[in-house]
Amino acid sequence: MALYAIGDLHLSLGADKSMEVFGGAWQGYVGKIGTALSTLNADDVLILTGDTSWGIDLTQAEPDFRFLDQFPCKKYLVKGNHDYWWGTVGKMKAFLREKGITTLDFLHNNCQFYGDYALCGTRGWFLDEENKAHDAKMLNREVLRLEASLRAAGDREKLCFLHYPPLYQGYECPPILALLMQYRVKLCCYGHLHGPTIRRRVEGRRGSVDYTLISADALDFRPKKICPDLQ
Ligand SMILES: [Fe+2]
Ligand SMILES: [Fe+2]
Repeated sequence: MALYAIGDLHLSLGADKSMEVFGGAWQGYVGKIGTALSTLNADDVLILTGDTSWGIDLTQAEPDFRFLDQFPCKKYLVKGNHDYWWGTVGKMKAFLREKGITTLDFLHNNCQFYGDYALCGTRGWFLDEENKAHDAKMLNREVLRLEASLRAAGDREKLCFLHYPPLYQGYECPPILALLMQYRVKLCCYGHLHGPTIRRRVEGRRGSVDYTLISADALDFRPKKICPDLQ
């Protein structure tokens, strides 16, 4: 039993937005993801940190859910900025139940547990100087979601999974960074950075928190092992 994470699979099996058009690392990406996921065991846990499916609604995302569901490990999904299919957790869970998809669940306004660890997370947000009023409102909502998730973790060791990076070279998001410090998060995994922007990643310790980028093309489409095996 081990904990893994990866973001930005950008699957498009029911839509017409295959990332193959970008070539390079994205060539054959679905095959690469399949090969990597087939090495995980049924008792492993995989966090998917957003931009999982290009589907515009649950029906269009269903082939991507089925693709993921063929691999038996438990998967917890965080919302990304391109997950247009995302609805209320109740609605999403009802859809999966109705379709017999059993290995997908959500990390949204809650936390999940992995041994003694609490898995917390939310999409996060960018603070853009040009769009300050709108962004401040969206960020505020995300800060509340993250705090709800961290609070639900109680005293457990906290691992945090965000879609948007809370910091990278030339940018930081102070309210998110403050929460991660306040709740003594040990590790923060984030996605969203692709291609040339990957080089702006922040890796390693800042303050008391370790950061790591786990977008799929940064990991060559192989989930990163986050925690050593649990007995
Ligand atoms: Fe992405
Ligand atoms: Fe994204």
